[in-house]
Amino acid sequence: MAILTDTIKKAKQVVQGYIPEPEINEIGEVIEVQGGVITIAGLKEAMMGEMLIFPHGLKGQVFNLEKERISCILFGDHSLIKQGDRVFRTNRVLEVPVGDELLGRIIDPLGNPLDGNPAPDFRYKRPIMLHAPEVIQRQPVHRPLFTGIKTIDAMIPLGKGQRELIIGDRRTGKTTLTIDTILNQKGKNVLCVYVAIGKRLSAITEMVDILKRYNAMAYSIIVSTSAEDSPAFLYLAPYSGCTIAEFFMNGGQDVLVIYDDLSKHAVAYRSLSLLMRRSPGRESYPGDIFYLHSRLLERSAQLSDDLGGGSMSALPIVETQEGDISAYIPTNIISITDGQIYLESNLFAKGFLPPINIGLSVSRVGGEAQTPIMKKVARRLRLDLAQYFELEDFARFSSELDVITSRQLEHGKRVLELTTQIQYQPLDISLEILAVFAATQGLIDHVPLHLVKQWEANLYQTAALEKADLLNELRKDKELDSRLEQEIKEFIRSFTEQFLQEKNVSN
Ligand SMILES: Nc1ncnc2c1ncn2[C@@H]1O[C@H](COP(=O)(O)OP(=O)(O)OP(=O)(O)O)[C@@H](O)[C@H]1O
Ligand SMILES: [Mg+2]
Repeated sequence: MAILTDTIKKAKQVVQGYIPEPEINEIGEVIEVQGGVITIAGLKEAMMGEMLIFPHGLKGQVFNLEKERISCILFGDHSLIKQGDRVFRTNRVLEVPVGDELLGRIIDPLGNPLDGNPAPDFRYKRPIMLHAPEVIQRQPVHRPLFTGIKTIDAMIPLGKGQRELIIGDRRTGKTTLTIDTILNQKGKNVLCVYVAIGKRLSAITEMVDILKRYNAMAYSIIVSTSAEDSPAFLYLAPYSGCTIAEFFMNGGQDVLVIYDDLSKHAVAYRSLSLLMRRSPGRESYPGDIFYLHSRLLERSAQLSDDLGGGSMSALPIVETQEGDISAYIPTNIISITDGQIYLESNLFAKGFLPPINIGLSVSRVGGEAQTPIMKKVARRLRLDLAQYFELEDFARFSSELDVITSRQLEHGKRVLELTTQIQYQPLDISLEILAVFAATQGLIDHVPLHLVKQWEANLYQTAALEKADLLNELRKDKELDSRLEQEIKEFIRSFTEQFLQEKNVSN
């Protein structure tokens, strides 16, 4: 009996270790090169998504299976490939290197370094196209993800594992908002993966410079593709970034991944699909364009505690044309994500930074993760701002305003001034609470408008120097009781009094 079990064991080992020799029909031949799309004959057994190897070590991915031929997208310079070239199967789906070695690096979607430093010794690789975690493997979003931007943390709060769309026209501060969010993760144990899809090279360099300047590269990875890269690379980039982030999430860590932007991703996929003669649908996009983005964004999750409790939050960006959020790609992605932050050029022009349209922006799950103190303090903010925008329109047409209206208008102006925040200055949640509290409680209504920003900066400095205990309290995940509320009020009152005295403003 022992001999039999031994033999079975050995036989199993042999079977498991058996790697089939490539058959002769496993070597294909290039029959057509069309942009980044290559048609190949002879690879009858090839799988969808399989990695193929071309001359010069170039890699490709099987994209279309037909009866006599297959099509594949090529990652690299297609002018190096010609008709008659031999193509080899690998029996493996496309993979990217993943792991800690990537932190601080700029890479292409296949993991090759683009920062001039040598490629690190990777220990792990992971298939690029994987299924999203099942429902049972997840838990609801319940921990806050702080952006450091007052408007967002107060009114559109995000949670770890959430997918929040950043949407707006050209040059409305979409990228800046995500950079601020990355900068705010310093010391918070959240790794960041930024995926640049078909951006200008200068824009990528600028962004890297900022991250370096604020020491944010140590916990960040940049997956970069520029406008000069082939559509195949652009198509691959977000999946690659997602796979890298997923590895960290599965290891129990929190990751933030930014896709900048998915409109360009959709366009790259459209051009690949058209080259493959897939039938075009609405706006010439292929029929599976919704699936393209849903299978990417579904991979973001807050994993269950059994699986380590890691999370992957996603901030996909979409560019609109003249504010049209009802176009095909925007509506698709709005329906996949857990909310959107809508940026508007006219608010930008008015100087309301970041130019978030509060009425159209929403976070569907983040409220559960918002700390109770912020939730209570921020309750009035949305109302105050909405009221101000309404009054402002009205006041433009009437020359005489009654006392109450003009007082409301003055209050609104200060609330707006205080919620405005310039780039690269993300704030700690405790300072955000102080600012929002002061604004909504009317504690700065007597501070001259032109001094509000200075008042704000001084308040933060004084609070950090003198009120460290109070700030610590405000960071906690607890209720705002009357004692704490009183303490905040007193601190802001006495600080304001002193500030106005120094500025020689009568109270
Ligand atoms: N909160 C802010 N404070 C000050 N300047 C800002 C702020 N947000 C954006 N900007 C400035 O506005 C300009 C456009 O910002 P950004 O590049 O982030 O916009 P975008 O929507 O990503 O643009 P694109 O459509 O080119 O991708 C930049 O010069 C940036 O510095
Ligand atoms: Mg941008």
